[in-house]
Amino acid sequence: MGRLIRSHQILCLLLVLILPFGVDCSLSFSSPSLNYSTPLCLPEDSSALLQFKNTISIDDSDDPFCRESMTSSPRTNSWKDSTNCCSWEGITCDKVTGHVIGLDLSCSLLVGSLPANSTLFLLRGLQQLNLARNNFQQSQLPPTLFNLTELTYLDLSFNRLEGLLPNHVSGLQNLKKFRLTDNLLSGGIPSWLFSLPFLEYLDLSHNRLTGPIEQIQKSNSIQRLHLANNDIHGEIPSSFFDLANLTYLDLSSNNLSGSIKSDMLPKLENLETLDLSSNNFSGVIKSDLLSKLRNLKTLHLSNNKLLSLSSGSDVNYTFQELETLSFSSCNVNRFPNFLRTGKNLKDLDLSCNKIRGSIFRWELEGWEQLTTLNLSYNLLTSLEQFPGNNLKTLDLRSNLLQGPLLVPPPSLRQLFISNNSLTGKIPPLICNMTSLNTLDLSINNLGGIIPTCLGNFSYSLSTINLRMNDFHGKIPDYFVEGNLLTYLDLSDNQFEGLLPRSLINCTFLRILDLANNKLSDTFPHWLGVLPQLQVLILGFNRFHGPLDNSIVTPPFLSLQIIDLSQNEFSGLLPTNFFQNLYAMKSAREGSLPDRVKRIRYESPIDRDGQTSVNVRFKRLEMKLELEKTLLIFFAIDFSNNRLSGKIPGVIGELCSLRLLNLSHNILTGHIPSSLGNLVVLESLDLSSNTLGGRIPSQMTNLTFLAVLNVSENNLAGPIPSGNQFNTFDNDSYSGNMGLCGLPLSKQCGNVERSKSPAPKFMEDEGSAIAFIWKLAMMGYGCGVVLGLSTGYVVFTTGRPWGLVRMVERDWQKNVSKWIKRRRN
Ligand SMILES: *[C@@H]1O[C@H](CO)[C@@H](O)[C@H](O)[C@H]1NC(C)=O
Ligand SMILES: *[C@@H]1O[C@H](CO)[C@@H](O)[C@H](O)[C@H]1NC(C)=O
Ligand SMILES: *[C@@H]1O[C@H](CO)[C@@H](O)[C@H](O)[C@H]1NC(C)=O
Ligand SMILES: *[C@@H]1O[C@H](CO)[C@@H](O)[C@H](O)[C@H]1NC(C)=O
Ligand SMILES: *[C@@H]1O[C@H](CO)[C@@H](O)[C@H](O)[C@H]1NC(C)=O
Ligand SMILES: *[C@@H]1O[C@H](CO)[C@@H](O)[C@H](O)[C@H]1NC(C)=O
Ligand SMILES: *[C@@H]1O[C@H](CO)[C@@H](O)[C@H](O)[C@H]1NC(C)=O
Ligand SMILES: *[C@@H]1O[C@H](CO)[C@@H](O)[C@H](O)[C@H]1NC(C)=O
Ligand SMILES: *[C@@H]1O[C@H](CO)[C@@H](O)[C@H](O)[C@H]1NC(C)=O
Ligand SMILES: *[C@@H]1O[C@H](CO)[C@@H](O)[C@H](O)[C@H]1NC(C)=O
Ligand SMILES: *[C@@H]1O[C@H](CO)[C@@H](O)[C@H](O)[C@H]1NC(C)=O
Ligand SMILES: *[C@@H]1O[C@H](CO)[C@@H](O)[C@H](O)[C@H]1NC(C)=O
Repeated sequence: MGRLIRSHQILCLLLVLILPFGVDCSLSFSSPSLNYSTPLCLPEDSSALLQFKNTISIDDSDDPFCRESMTSSPRTNSWKDSTNCCSWEGITCDKVTGHVIGLDLSCSLLVGSLPANSTLFLLRGLQQLNLARNNFQQSQLPPTLFNLTELTYLDLSFNRLEGLLPNHVSGLQNLKKFRLTDNLLSGGIPSWLFSLPFLEYLDLSHNRLTGPIEQIQKSNSIQRLHLANNDIHGEIPSSFFDLANLTYLDLSSNNLSGSIKSDMLPKLENLETLDLSSNNFSGVIKSDLLSKLRNLKTLHLSNNKLLSLSSGSDVNYTFQELETLSFSSCNVNRFPNFLRTGKNLKDLDLSCNKIRGSIFRWELEGWEQLTTLNLSYNLLTSLEQFPGNNLKTLDLRSNLLQGPLLVPPPSLRQLFISNNSLTGKIPPLICNMTSLNTLDLSINNLGGIIPTCLGNFSYSLSTINLRMNDFHGKIPDYFVEGNLLTYLDLSDNQFEGLLPRSLINCTFLRILDLANNKLSDTFPHWLGVLPQLQVLILGFNRFHGPLDNSIVTPPFLSLQIIDLSQNEFSGLLPTNFFQNLYAMKSAREGSLPDRVKRIRYESPIDRDGQTSVNVRFKRLEMKLELEKTLLIFFAIDFSNNRLSGKIPGVIGELCSLRLLNLSHNILTGHIPSSLGNLVVLESLDLSSNTLGGRIPSQMTNLTFLAVLNVSENNLAGPIPSGNQFNTFDNDSYSGNMGLCGLPLSKQCGNVERSKSPAPKFMEDEGSAIAFIWKLAMMGYGCGVVLGLSTGYVVFTTGRPWGLVRMVERDWQKNVSKWIKRRRN
């Protein structure tokens, strides 16, 4: 066979020599049918590739990042003995010599090791090598790799490669692009990386490199350098800044220290983007330093606790190009008005600093181009005017702002001013803000009645949050047809009267939270027509009457969370209503992704609207971030009403439920055994009713159950044992005279206790509630929000009852484990 290939090759060469226009002998793998013009593979290359194929296996697990680039079957399937390797998928050969010069096996599901003697490195003519997104199972970086002298392009990212970068290399002198991102590499950053004569792009981000960064011997042509998300410590050597051709430098999320002095940077005059955020830099950034970076467009310095900005009487510099500056979570205590000379500055983030007092009118003049300003989490007491006339996003959350709300510029799209001490009314001129998309005035002392324009002044309005203020009167009934409202939170106010019937015009509404007001109405069955309504919270109001079962009601197709607690509802639990909760019925355990797809409606909202919802239940309060967590959380809370009759068995069909609370009603009958089908249920409260009979043994099937309360009923017989039931204590069962068996001291006499399987503790991934806690801990405000103690999680926002007992687990440990896993 080898001879046959040879002779074909010779034929091809002859054709090249004979024909005046030549023949293209190099058509690549994409058209294997045109064999006559495909160059012929060298037998040694062919055998090197086949030997490599034999050392690795294929793993079918799904990598979502690879879905698009993946061919229907793994590329190496087309690699067969006795065929021309130049026609195999992923291979490019030299047109004339037939040498393999390109190998692209990215996203090829390869599993195996990449040892130094891998035959891959015998392909000495290789110019382009892409093995990204496979799994080389913690292989060391093979030293032979660095002997490939012809390489111009090398991509080994996302491969779990371990080990150190070598101190010296002989090859790679032709490299132009080099990516090693997302591996497990450790150790220092050798200087040869910066002296490769042609290298333009180097990405070593998301590894475990500790540094230090070695002195750079001679400057090179490198233009884009990514070293983010490592553990590099120490100072940046001054020679580093001799990399005169850099346009993009990302050193964020490391442990670099030292001060950033103005004499460091002058050579970096081509730099357009500099990201030094999340390090341990110190000192003062002065305007002269910035002015030297003449082409700088984007500067990120956030999360350097010891770094401050000069408060600036040294105003003599202009920052012609600067567009984006983030300086969040640093040590800034004055508003840096010197930056006003940045005539192009569009996006300024000074959140989470210590800027205190007032910002005066003159300090806010000259910011004409500013479109986004984030001053949240500072100590501001007043703002004399809003800066500029082109502002689109203004975040003033969590300051100490007092007095009335200023009328924002009509250009504004997003206004976040929650958690301040604003007083007075909403200015009626708010009705002129026709571009407004998000209005968050929550947690202030605003009062009065709200302007009647609320539901109709802006067609782009998608979020209104007035939670925790002192508004009273009726909710305006002017929601117009075609409005884009998705989120309406008026909870914790003094609103009274009926629900506005025009809410029926809010066809995109996903979240309606009206908890803790004085609303007095019957159950709004008519909201069931809203096709996207996912969260309906009416708790702590004066809703009354039966949850009517008799009329044919629209279905609440998307409902995931319903809270009717602490009202005056009466009558039977509505069987029809439960039967129609399709979103809660649609998923089975383990089919989460499908469900996520189904419920992810495309609604025309601005997705960075930062919508979150506070959901309150008697024993826990949680903040759900809309996109991330709402999709997996399903809950029903009908507690503290006057509901009577039996618990309908159909509730057992709502197999996505995570939380069910029917406590403090006057329910009778048995606990339906169908509740044993709620396989992902994590919290069940049926306490303070008049339920009788036994606790169904099927409930031991609920292996995610972390909270159970059936106290204060008339239950009798043995408490089931096994699984989660081995973890509940007396409080779960108190006030039921007839119950017996562990954990109660009363024994069950002759009743045989079934052999008890060991409790299955919740897996981190499986538990929605646990997942949400974790997200909440990671994701809010300027840092960690929660206090943790073993076994209990205390949620610090909102009401004091935010206390939930999780199954015996060490939270600190689990959370840090989880964070670590996220890092890997
Ligand atoms: C091209 O080569 C493949 C194997 O490499 C072979 O199966 C196919 O029949 C050839 N096609 C032509 C047109 O010769
Ligand atoms: C590579 O070396 C290992 C031992 O280190 C050996 O088992 C293996 O056969 C070698 N592979 C090749 C292709 O030479
Ligand atoms: C790779 O290069 C080093 C010198 O840099 C040499 O010692 C080694 O033998 C080379 N390895 C191969 C496989 O060529
Ligand atoms: C920097 O880029 C310029 C223009 O692209 C080039 O002429 C010069 O050689 C580069 N500098 C280095 C040190 O490679
Ligand atoms: C950062 O580096 C210093 C030494 O320079 C070390 O003491 C500290 O623990 C490191 N911090 C982190 C978070 O790695
Ligand atoms: C940050 O740097 C200072 C010195 O500038 C040092 O004292 C401190 O330990 C460092 N902090 C961390 C977390 O590395
Ligand atoms: C400000 O700049 C002007 C001209 O650009 C110069 O004359 C003046 O000395 C500078 N002032 C300071 C304080 O640097
Ligand atoms: C409100 O702001 C204070 C600081 O001003 C902060 O400590 C608190 O966490 C904020 N509360 C919320 C709910 O954001
Ligand atoms: C607000 O809008 C009304 C009517 O659209 C207009 O008459 C009024 O001048 C506007 N006010 C301001 C301050 O723009
Ligand atoms: C819905 O909006 C239209 C105007 O767009 C209004 O005429 C109608 O009354 C509204 N519906 C309800 C139920 O209020
Ligand atoms: C649920 O429990 C019952 C009895 O305890 C058992 O027969 C049944 O197989 C269990 N179902 C599942 C899905 O585990
Ligand atoms: C403003 O900064 C805070 C804290 O860094 C952040 O949580 C928030 O998302 C930012 N606001 C906007 C609108 O980006």
